[in-house]
Amino acid sequence: MPGQGPDSPRILVTRRMMPDAERRISSLFRASLNHDDRPMSRDEILEKAHQYDGLLVSSLDKLGPDFIAVVPSSVRIIATHSVGYDHLSIEQANSRGIAVTNTPDVLTDATADITLLLILGAARGASWGDRMVRENRWGQSTLISPLGHDVSGKRLGILGMGRIGQAVAHRARAFGMTIHYHARKPVSAAKACEAVYHSRFADMLPNCDFLSVNCASTPETRGMINREALSSLPDGAILVNTARGDIIDDDAVIAALQSGKLAAAGLDVFRGEPQIDPRYRTLDNVFLLPHIGSATPGTRSAMANRCIDNLVQFFEGERPTDLLTRG
Ligand code: DGY
Repeated sequence: MPGQGPDSPRILVTRRMMPDAERRISSLFRASLNHDDRPMSRDEILEKAHQYDGLLVSSLDKLGPDFIAVVPSSVRIIATHSVGYDHLSIEQANSRGIAVTNTPDVLTDATADITLLLILGAARGASWGDRMVRENRWGQSTLISPLGHDVSGKRLGILGMGRIGQAVAHRARAFGMTIHYHARKPVSAAKACEAVYHSRFADMLPNCDFLSVNCASTPETRGMINREALSSLPDGAILVNTARGDIIDDDAVIAALQSGKLAAAGLDVFRGEPQIDPRYRTLDNVFLLPHIGSATPGTRSAMANRCIDNLVQFFEGERPTDLLTRG
């Protein structure tokens, strides 16, 4: 164990973490915690970083695309408290010999649960229904209005069949959904819950009453849900996104929601979040959440501890379990 002595590695933790993880990292390292959880700017992190051997960051930190290129050379490892690492350049990390780790596995179930919440919430009008009750408009309900959309027995297309996509497929089967997916490569029938594989994204789209975005944000996937993709969906399809906001072209999605091409959308992630395209707030057929896919105490604690495990392994000279960079 690295230990807490004067020679133990110094770790800058940019945001508050679950208390058990803060206690653990403080017992293992000379850790600097962000007690009041004030967001640190990129410049502030860079300014402090030369005093540290490792950084524990998250996707909440606005690090910017060249962060790793300019991070001080004292920093040997960056552990991100997220499975997604689109906020960190692995290429820059490799060229500078800085290790980067993430937190896969431990948030799979929580994120898949939120995906199902979005599917159900968008389809059945959780957002407008909630507003009707709060605004005392329940009395306006009739036998024919308002109405949502059926989920059970419908076709679900999953973009990205990694751990989270597979967990979504598993849950959706319980709703009697027929599942299609597009990924770079097919996965085994058991992992995909017998879903139908489409090697071309465009071929999957006509089969999607629901389309769930569960892929990583990469140069290839950014903007993938665009006007052309949406036009290939059946009329009245429903879109949900728990991956990253930039996979969606907001102009195209908002136009489709306004025209009815998309009956509804459920979104947990947004381009530029927490600032979102203000037009989403004006639409009645969207169910909006503030990026809470992994937001449960157990999951957030497991994520933080996974970061710590990776840091411990690294500073003990072992290969961290979740190393993303070249070893
Ligand atoms: C992740 O872990 O990538 C979640 O989206 C939180 O950022």
